[in-house]
Amino acid sequence: MVTRRKMLKLSLLAGASLMVPAVHSINDAEAQMGGGMMGGTASPAVTPFRRPLPIPDTLAPYLSDATTDYYAMTMQAAQVEILPGLRTTIWGYYGKYPGATIRARSGRKVVIRQTNGLPENMVVHLHGGHTPADSDGHPMDQITPGTYKDYFYPNNQQAATLWYHDHTMDLTAPHVYKGLAGFYILEDDYERSLPLPKGEFDVPILIQDRRFNADGSLYYAPGSGGMMMDSSFLGDTILVNGAVQPFFQVAKRKYRFRILNGSNARQYQLRLSNGATFTHIGSDGGLLPQPVARTAITIYPGERVELIIDFSAYAIGTQIVLKNAASSGRTGDIMRFDVTRAVVDDSAIPSILRPYELIPSAAAVTTRTFTLSRNMSGVWVINGLPFDRNRIDAYPRRGTTEIWRFVNQSNMVHPMHIHLVMFQVLDVNGVAVTPSSPYYGWKDTVQAPANGQVRVIAKFADYTGDYITHCHILEHEDRAMMSQFKVVT
Ligand code: C2O
Ligand code: CU
Ligand code: CU
Repeated sequence: MVTRRKMLKLSLLAGASLMVPAVHSINDAEAQMGGGMMGGTASPAVTPFRRPLPIPDTLAPYLSDATTDYYAMTMQAAQVEILPGLRTTIWGYYGKYPGATIRARSGRKVVIRQTNGLPENMVVHLHGGHTPADSDGHPMDQITPGTYKDYFYPNNQQAATLWYHDHTMDLTAPHVYKGLAGFYILEDDYERSLPLPKGEFDVPILIQDRRFNADGSLYYAPGSGGMMMDSSFLGDTILVNGAVQPFFQVAKRKYRFRILNGSNARQYQLRLSNGATFTHIGSDGGLLPQPVARTAITIYPGERVELIIDFSAYAIGTQIVLKNAASSGRTGDIMRFDVTRAVVDDSAIPSILRPYELIPSAAAVTTRTFTLSRNMSGVWVINGLPFDRNRIDAYPRRGTTEIWRFVNQSNMVHPMHIHLVMFQVLDVNGVAVTPSSPYYGWKDTVQAPANGQVRVIAKFADYTGDYITHCHILEHEDRAMMSQFKVVT
């Protein structure tokens, strides 16, 4: 604790002594610095596209009854080979990095017994889950080393790509950085009935950036990478499902990619190296009402996008790189698709993906404003106040609908996340979100634009109790950019 405090102070001091031009995002700042880093270590160089894309193992329940699937996992340290010939110690759910995948079905309950086999307190949060407060993973609801907690997930929500990750007070960023994140894929009968790509053609993609010491150990020093005067941390090595810039052998057909930005602070602008169009079919909260053709989409920490990429038109031997156009150099390439075989494609993209109803603004009983800024001591704050576990900032009534407005008074984007609810984005800088907007559909994390604002609308259904909203740049969240709300009757 003492060390961490000291580190924060040092990085603020370092920042205070430097004049920095206004920048629009940390990645822009990094690009201005030549796509590299400012201070700290450069990771050992790795030749891209040498390792096949790993697919995280799906965990089987140890018990299933009429209503519920029961899982158990231990959070533990493990040694893995991420850089060729070197060992990296990770902290993983089930000892895996990424953590084991949970596949759940809407309407069937899940209980996960999480045992803490690590030396620090832990909290597990199901991101995107519509979860009772005592299972939501409030940062203060901690599992001490050697003990366990049973998390209960009702899954009374529609199919979506959720994920679970650590949420320990002040320590979320270092814990997730060490590997504590995994997929929780929720399916339902409606989605199963669609002719979308399934099975091996439905591929989870977890993108994270990391930095390594010469011996392969993880290097982490928030404040040393990315935008100066900011506590966040950027890696210089892109990992997909735990492998450095892997390749993925694809057949000449359509694939569904569930892309999760599980990075601490880095944004990605996804593009294909040949400029080809892909089809955006899903967002944080599951399928969009209709598919949207795009050539680029930007994803911030915490966000998910689901894309269909159709490889059927390419000759065998074609290689297409999934690029990060928000950066260049080592962090400009994410992974590569290698077209290796011909198959019959039995999948299709329906023109209507999912019934969808807009929540009318008039349904809202109140509008709450959350300003995002940095205080005089350089700490990120919401409405001028750092997180305080003894303070509740909002009391939505259960069953009511509210509009939340995030007013960003800083020159970087903050991906704002609200627990418990899926919301709809009403407008960004006053411009209404339309079906072709990347923010259309059900979301749980929204990009609050630099020096701008965004409004979202949500219904606070079912559960009462303490929840949080926060920036999903994990170093911001740990450095007080988090607020508590309590749903009351
Ligand atoms: Cu993805 Cu509060 O978390
Ligand atoms: Cu969450
Ligand atoms: Cu932030």
